[in-house]
Amino acid sequence: MLAGRRVVLGITGGVAAYKAAYLARRLVERGAVVRTVMTDAATEFIGPHTFAAITGTRPVVDLFDADDVSPHTTLGRWADAIVVAPATAATLARLANGLSDDSVSATVLATAAPVVIAPAMHTEMWMHPATVSNVERLESFGYHIVSPEAGALAGGDTGLGRLADPDRIADAVAGVLPGGPLTGVEVLITAGGTREPIDRVRFLGNHSSGKMGNAIAAAAARRGAHVTLVTAGPGIEHPRVTVVPVDTAAEMAEATWEMAEKADVAVMAAAVADFRPAKALDGKLRRSDGPPMIELEPTPDVLRGISEMTDRPFLVGFAAETGGIDEAVAKAQRKDVDLLVANDVTAPGSGFGTETNQVTIVLPDGSTDPWSLLPKSEVAERLWDRIAELRKSEGTST
Ligand code: PMT
Repeated sequence: MLAGRRVVLGITGGVAAYKAAYLARRLVERGAVVRTVMTDAATEFIGPHTFAAITGTRPVVDLFDADDVSPHTTLGRWADAIVVAPATAATLARLANGLSDDSVSATVLATAAPVVIAPAMHTEMWMHPATVSNVERLESFGYHIVSPEAGALAGGDTGLGRLADPDRIADAVAGVLPGGPLTGVEVLITAGGTREPIDRVRFLGNHSSGKMGNAIAAAAARRGAHVTLVTAGPGIEHPRVTVVPVDTAAEMAEATWEMAEKADVAVMAAAVADFRPAKALDGKLRRSDGPPMIELEPTPDVLRGISEMTDRPFLVGFAAETGGIDEAVAKAQRKDVDLLVANDVTAPGSGFGTETNQVTIVLPDGSTDPWSLLPKSEVAERLWDRIAELRKSEGTST
């Protein structure tokens, strides 16, 4: 996604500035044409020649000491994307307030390209309400923030605030660039295993990790789609993925149905509880009270709610199966989906929590296509290829 794309890397004055050299290298290795712009403070931490050597072009440092009379607007217009890494707390404040009093903030203000910001600072500065509000403001501009990580900080401290890994930042840059076969397509995905409360501390749940749904979300976003990931699991970070965290089947149903109206494709990979305790105890069940009788009631069927919509998205269901394929074929017809992924959760390396999966594609006409054991990322890529073929045969171009 980065091959031939023009990326401006802005480096500001924090000790993590040296890591920007690794980021520049990663971007170049991925085929991007990279130009750099540094604040004076950044040059206290790493020399401009390092970036000249990695990118083949001298960085812009001083806006008044350049051959170009207006280097910030030249860079701002040239860029397909701008990434500021590291971004200090002062840089976040400048950008949030539209200041342009150094080379990096002036360049960001002078661009219409997507902007990625990777902050790095001490934990106290990152958690300060001023910084929190500046980050919110920057997100409201549509800038993508690559949140810092926990680890060793300057001066021997440890905590949250360390610059994100260069590969994570490079992924975010690739993610904000438009392009890909699913550009303009709205995708809705459910993932993870729902939890139905029994009391304040216990729940009815299942073994879903959310990995399969996350892989499908990541693959769709890589292809250019905007993804809403309604998940009872951990979710993923990607500029085009909006994560909606939920716990219960009812919460998943509400969030999913709200989004389904504008979705073009919906993929239901979540393991949703079919039943929940009719009444969750407010406190905690006591062992001394003896084994409880827990009355169950049905949960909403999230998938059926979509299949019954009049103008519904292309609908993909999953089926966790422990026996042969016959039940999945019947389910594909009963659930009125466009494609069903039958997941053998008994095969070694397949199903809940694994990195790999063994699935069979089932179509409403009863035809089946068994796939071998594959990494979940590969299952996701092939699934999107299959969805594209089917949507094309229905007359949808993307
Ligand atoms: O998350 P991982 O650890 O990576 O594991 C992946 C997975 C095994 C969870 C996944 O590949 C999978 O098989 N998901 C579907 C699991 C399941 O609950 O299947 P089901 O046969 O019970 O449900 C059929 C379909 O109806 C599913 O698309 C399910 O999301 C949906 N459903 C079920 C019940 C309900 N109340 N609402 C629903 O929408």
